[in-house]
Amino acid sequence: MSAISAMVMPRADTLMALGRQIFFDSTLSASGRLSCASCHDQQYGWAAPNALAVQTGGIGGTASGLRAVPSLGYAQDTPPFTEHYREDDGDDSEDQGAAGGLMWDGRAESLKEQAALPLLSPLEMGNISRAAAVERLRVSAVAEAFRTAFGAHVFDDSLVAWNGLLAALDAFQQSPADFYPYSSKYDAFLRGEGALTARERRGLALFNDPAKGNCASCHPSARQREGFPQFTDRGFLALGVPRNRRIPVNADSTYYDLGLCGPLRTDLADRPDYCGAFKTPTLRNVARRQVFFHNGVFTSLEQVLRFYARRDTEGRLFYPVDKRGVVQMYDDLPRIYWDNLNVDPPFDRKPGQRPAFSDAEAADMIAFLRTLNDGYSETTPARR
Ligand code: HEC
Ligand code: HEC
Repeated sequence: MSAISAMVMPRADTLMALGRQIFFDSTLSASGRLSCASCHDQQYGWAAPNALAVQTGGIGGTASGLRAVPSLGYAQDTPPFTEHYREDDGDDSEDQGAAGGLMWDGRAESLKEQAALPLLSPLEMGNISRAAAVERLRVSAVAEAFRTAFGAHVFDDSLVAWNGLLAALDAFQQSPADFYPYSSKYDAFLRGEGALTARERRGLALFNDPAKGNCASCHPSARQREGFPQFTDRGFLALGVPRNRRIPVNADSTYYDLGLCGPLRTDLADRPDYCGAFKTPTLRNVARRQVFFHNGVFTSLEQVLRFYARRDTEGRLFYPVDKRGVVQMYDDLPRIYWDNLNVDPPFDRKPGQRPAFSDAEAADMIAFLRTLNDGYSETTPARR
């Protein structure tokens, strides 16, 4: 019997349970110290359990990452990356530009494809090859369950085992109870099973108001036809967030992380119009995060909201000021790409103008964002 024909496709719940075990198993990393969960901790909305801009990993466990860890929740419906996203609403659907895919630059097509990247990244789990990762799996605590699920001969062909490994991680990350429970206070409110406080309702109104936060234009908050809102349209935009000097690679003044146009993503390197654009993340569980934006430059929601309100009105609050007193605006995006910067509200202001919203209004929006943490309505039955 060949290894391939011995490959059994396990039941969905078996695969999910296996994926859960693998997700938490640090012996699958070269250092023996890093599991997926080391960087993606459920208590922190499946993002990093610390306030470091980037995590360390690799064989010695000391190689620095390049980007902040994104939250893993609510990625289940992410479409594959496309340059011409259309909402499926009939003939008149409009081309909304680049959207979809996983990672801050959308370079991974699916959860299954994505899982290969951290397993093999020299900055993360550090396996030098698929075969090396499979060998670690073969001698891990998961091996027996893996054989039970995929067949006794699954390790005879390392490609078969590798595919099983990715399929299990994919299945776990599709587990509704873990990754998209829709159990926040806001979900309870949408179901008519709970009320928001006056402050949270004010925050929601400001979040939606095109003349105030305008947040919902990119982070949709209303119930959609397909179900509850994900708080991301999965589009890509250049917001011009400040350079984060706490990321070691940024000590090289010629290094720029330009998102869609590279350098981590390589297929759109000839598209200067994409430089600086990063994926709009979900805001569900965002109040559980400790660093924000693709480079983790901000460490509080207050700072994030201040940036949205005052990026262009008071740049010196965010960007370095040189010896002559000149603010180095958009210091993480070379000037040749400044046309790409988003100037939709609240980014539609000029220096000296009034910001789109006040600090008090920002505080109301933050109160609303806190209603997006899962785990609120665990005592009430989760209905959709
Ligand atoms: C050393 C920290 C680290 C480890 C370990 C790690 N990740 Fe990540 N993960 C990241 C970072 C950083 C990103 C963003 C990378 C980028 O955009 O280039 C990311 C992105 C992701 C994404 C994309 C999320 C999205 O919405 O775009 C998924 C899914 C993911 N990781 C799953 C996993 C799985 C599964 C494992 C284990 C096999 C894992 N990660 C291990 C740091 C880590
Ligand atoms: C024009 C589209 C757009 C608008 C409007 C917008 N956002 Fe965003 N948001 C993004 C994009 C794109 C990113 C990621 C940018 C990056 O990392 O470079 C982001 C990131 C964030 C993050 C960081 C989340 C994380 O996981 O790191 C928060 C918080 C956030 N937005 C909140 C808001 C709030 C609150 C508003 C309204 C005041 C708002 N956004 C308006 C597109 C938008």
